[in-house]
Amino acid sequence: MKVLITGGAGFIGSHLAEAMSAIGAEVHILDNLSTGTADRIPAKAVFHQGDIANSSDVTRVMALRPDFVFHLAAQTDVRRSLLDPVSDADINIIGTINVLQASRQSGVKKIIFSSSCAVYGDTGSNTIDEGSAAKPISFYGISKLASEHYIQAFHDLYGLPYTILRYANVYGPGQKTNGEAGVVSVFLQRIKNHLPLIIYGNGEQTRDFLYVEDVVKANLLSLFKGNNQIIQLGTSVRTSIEQLAGCLQELHGDEVRILHEAEKPGEIRHSCLDYTYARSSLGWEPSCPIRSGLKMTYDDVMGD
Ligand SMILES: NC(=O)c1ccc[n+]([C@@H]2O[C@H](COP(=O)([O-])OP(=O)(O)OC[C@H]3O[C@@H](n4cnc5c(N)ncnc54)[C@H](O)[C@@H]3O)[C@@H](O)[C@H]2O)c1
Repeated sequence: MKVLITGGAGFIGSHLAEAMSAIGAEVHILDNLSTGTADRIPAKAVFHQGDIANSSDVTRVMALRPDFVFHLAAQTDVRRSLLDPVSDADINIIGTINVLQASRQSGVKKIIFSSSCAVYGDTGSNTIDEGSAAKPISFYGISKLASEHYIQAFHDLYGLPYTILRYANVYGPGQKTNGEAGVVSVFLQRIKNHLPLIIYGNGEQTRDFLYVEDVVKANLLSLFKGNNQIIQLGTSVRTSIEQLAGCLQELHGDEVRILHEAEKPGEIRHSCLDYTYARSSLGWEPSCPIRSGLKMTYDDVMGD
């Protein structure tokens, strides 16, 4: 099996590339190394440096005729999307259209897209499911939702199969301090550098933290299941930023100072994703409890 992973030098993409190589797939990676790094690319994978926003870079790689495309390359920083919506749309929307056009032309069997719970915006409800209304409150969320619509239209118009996976806040070893859900890695880097943790707002905002290997597992299952479906991936567990800070403090042992600053615009208050549909459609459920996941991530950051 030949697969193309866009964004395969990044946090989630590199874990996925490792897992696909381990099952014997021929793995090709398209990445411009804007946030990803070459050292995260598995030895067995073939790296193609290029920009998804540039259609000729995408067609060049797609000429290899991969069977499956995992599309992860993206501008992933919510705050950056607010500062520079044009570049966010260029990478996330135009880049996705380039990947779809080239996938269609080269006869790709399926595209598996990394979407986000940012498409929902602030629902105000305790738990979100796939039927919840999608009303993004950031340009990043809008660009992910628009990409989903393009993917569905490419399926409806041209028969290109897809699975769209909407992730909760993913964390784990190898995550950088930029990006959509970098709070775990930001906190750990600050602990490592003996700096106080900065919490925006009162810290009662909640997130659903999902371990990266669980995300990889869902991508692998999507190769042959969840056809033409939108499936969200979460743990159904809410963790407040204050609780997260407390958990990391406990893992660290020594005292960690916490500072509060003003809440940031465009940020969602509560987000917790029900995984009932992922279980029935993919046979997936999260297997890593937050304390174990944080321990593995803590050990990785402190061991660097
Ligand atoms: N990390 C999370 O919590 C989370 C949550 C929801 C969705 N997602 C989605 O998962 C995917 C992977 O996220 P991640 O956390 O691994 O982020 P990441 O920033 O580590 O990875 C993104 C990768 O895409 C590459 N890239 C960016 N722009 C590119 C371009 N124009 N052309 C080619 N490559 C480009 C980067 O160099 C990087 O390697 C993204 O689509 C993101 O939106 C992530």
